Amino acid sequence: MARRRRAGGGKPLEVAIESLSHEGRGIARVNGKTVFVFGALPGERVRIQVRRRARQYDEADALEVLEASPQRVAPRCPAFGVCGGCSLQHLDNDRQVATKQHNLLAQMAHAGVEVEEVLPPLRGAAWGYRDKARLGVKYVAKKGRVLVGFRERKASFIADIGHCDVLLSRVGERLDALAALIDGLDARARIPQIEVAADREHVQLVFRHLDPLSPADLNRLADFGRAQDFFIQLQPGGPDSLRNLHPDEQALYLEPLADASIRIPFGALDFVQVNREINQQMVAQALRLLEVGPDERVLDLFCGLGNFTLPLARRSASVCGVEGDATMVARARDAARFNGIDNTEYYRADLADPDPASPWMRRTWDKLLLDPPRSGAREIAADIGRFEARRIVYVSCQPSSLVRDAVIIRDQGYRLAQLGVMDMFPQTAHVESMAVFVR
Ligand SMILES: C[S@@+](CC[C@H](N)C(=O)[O-])C[C@H]1O[C@@H](n2cnc3c(N)ncnc32)[C@H](O)[C@@H]1O
Repeated sequence: MARRRRAGGGKPLEVAIESLSHEGRGIARVNGKTVFVFGALPGERVRIQVRRRARQYDEADALEVLEASPQRVAPRCPAFGVCGGCSLQHLDNDRQVATKQHNLLAQMAHAGVEVEEVLPPLRGAAWGYRDKARLGVKYVAKKGRVLVGFRERKASFIADIGHCDVLLSRVGERLDALAALIDGLDARARIPQIEVAADREHVQLVFRHLDPLSPADLNRLADFGRAQDFFIQLQPGGPDSLRNLHPDEQALYLEPLADASIRIPFGALDFVQVNREINQQMVAQALRLLEVGPDERVLDLFCGLGNFTLPLARRSASVCGVEGDATMVARARDAARFNGIDNTEYYRADLADPDPASPWMRRTWDKLLLDPPRSGAREIAADIGRFEARRIVYVSCQPSSLVRDAVIIRDQGYRLAQLGVMDMFPQTAHVESMAVFVR
């Protein structure tokens, strides 16, 4: 695809924006060809510069907004448009959510799947919500300093941002301090990234380093952790190489329920949902919509560390979690024990190639929850009827996958009873949603 694209150029054009694409770009038509315009909103007239041309569409940037949409707001971040982290800061957050819902419903309608009820969107803080991130680090000789942040939207450079309003504020406000810290290290050119993870109380920073660190660098990093009250971990190699630098004991806990009655130990390299507040709303909504009774058996596919599994286990007879990553399966078992929950079992399986002989495939289940990655759950959806579940809750982080799988699930005797979006990633075009299928 990339090879077929040509560089843009030419004179700036004036266009009218008709709608918003799934990636949050304005859509215009020029001589019948679709143009995706970064930074433009529906209803606006903008002057654009085409940057890239492909056969089916062109890509452009908005140079000037000639007639602004009433929904336009001033982007909060001076690096908006350069930094690749956000794509919708110029649209009011209420409209962001409404647009995501509208696009999801339109895609579902286009696929011919009837939605019986639209759930109210789950909403939380629009800023400072992101508890988990991978920050790029780069010593830029030309600038004579270190940059810490996200990659640029149009290039693989680290954007020069200094601070970030989307990250949890304890880290977002300290990107400059982090850059200064690394600038002062002997190893400043040999630290490619920092993983960030936080729970209700603590923030953990994992410094990936390519060479052994000098004693002086170890002291500088530990001092920073003490001064800023951060957990500091080092990662010299793969995920197994993690070691605590400061303090000696470090623990983060995922709390899927607002009452904190379940605590799942996790680390910065584990998959957990990035937005703690929305995650708790999401788990509560899934529990409610699945209508699990105390005698029921539940199947939780793509279970990760047990974010849904353990809350479901407290309300049902038993839950079976299935997950592809063997380390996560082991951690999920540990988490169940840690919480004194003894009615769960776990299997490691590649759900892109499910084995019909697996014990969990050969049983029926009262209720089913699935929370696949962006690629969706096509293969398991194709055989979902075998489980005979009365209700299925499908948590999705990619609308096109959900829509594709919804058709497959519907065709096995389910109706799409409820569908709603969750504002898990404000200021970005990512759409998280939940669908309830009823047999
Ligand atoms: C969106 S996460 C959801 C995790 C968990 N439900 C949660 O809420 O934290 C998707 C999970 O699917 C797992 N996964 C990805 N591809 C998979 C596959 N082919 N088979 C099984 N699990 C897979 C990932 O390891 C990850 O834990």
